[in-house]
Amino acid sequence: MEESIRQLSDQARAALEAATTEEELEAERRRFLGRKGLLREIRQGLKDLPEEDRPAVGKLINQTTRQLEALLEQRRQKLASGKAAFPEDRLDVTLPGRAPLIAGKHPLLATMEDMIEIFLGLGYLVAEGPEIEDYYHAFEALNYPEDHPAMDEQMTFYVEDDVLLRSQTSTVQIRVMEKQEPPVRVVVPGRCYRRDTVDATHCHTFYQLEGLLVDEGITFADLKGTLQAFAEGMFGPEVRVRFRPDFFPFTEPSAEFAVSCFICGGVGCRVCSGTGWLELGGAGMVDPNVLAGVGYDTERYTGFAFGVGIERFAMLRYGIKDIRVFYSGDMRVLTQF
Ligand code: PHE
Repeated sequence: MEESIRQLSDQARAALEAATTEEELEAERRRFLGRKGLLREIRQGLKDLPEEDRPAVGKLINQTTRQLEALLEQRRQKLASGKAAFPEDRLDVTLPGRAPLIAGKHPLLATMEDMIEIFLGLGYLVAEGPEIEDYYHAFEALNYPEDHPAMDEQMTFYVEDDVLLRSQTSTVQIRVMEKQEPPVRVVVPGRCYRRDTVDATHCHTFYQLEGLLVDEGITFADLKGTLQAFAEGMFGPEVRVRFRPDFFPFTEPSAEFAVSCFICGGVGCRVCSGTGWLELGGAGMVDPNVLAGVGYDTERYTGFAFGVGIERFAMLRYGIKDIRVFYSGDMRVLTQF
């Protein structure tokens, strides 16, 4: 009898220790300590014992019951405080923590902000305009004659017959001038769209930074000086700026501008394809037709405009060879910046 009480006690202890929820613990309590539990069953066997053995065995049963009740109470408290589900001896303090992912600036945004910073220093304001444009602001107001071949390089996506995704930030020149009188001095960062086949240097969606300055007495010399200051701010004080004739319907004269290669200093290398120059964008004096279209006095005001591709700058400064990495969302690329 004593032996089976001890066995039952060991069994009950193990069961109470193993219970991992309060429900499990309660079930074990009922099994061993309940009114129809195993201890009660044993106690009922007392009457079959010889008279003289009863007190000792009864005492053992009482003792066992008290011990198990104490253990039960201890386990109850522990489970209630949530500790038992994760026993201390299973806490692995060597497990490395989860490092939070700290966001960085996308290389295109970082480049855009550096470009803007230079123009803020020159007294420009930042303007923005809609990415979905009407035909008037996209082409007509920019002095594109109907069906002019210059529109070919602005092939874009049409939403409706006269509604399209802008192919250049030059549309915002019009939006800004419609709203204010000269002097105008703005830079316009923004997303543009063209129906280009995607390759290492082209994408259907890309970013430009436009500049527009209109005031009294503005000349081509102001344009050159401004872009020289911009190039120096971006690439260092040694760079030179080159202008070559080009054509845009909204500027006259128009120019393509380039900077001397900041990698090789202009002698020719892989980055500048051996030419010594890096082409950056288009520029020119705002065509009087454009100024007249927004109601400016063309006898009094002249201005210049320029536009550059932001991807181009970012690819040069970070040595990125494929434009597609900017839009891939690939964390292996992005976490490097
Ligand atoms: N918008 C022209 C382009 O995308 C660049 C440009 C801007 C040219 C402003 C002249 C003046 O190619």
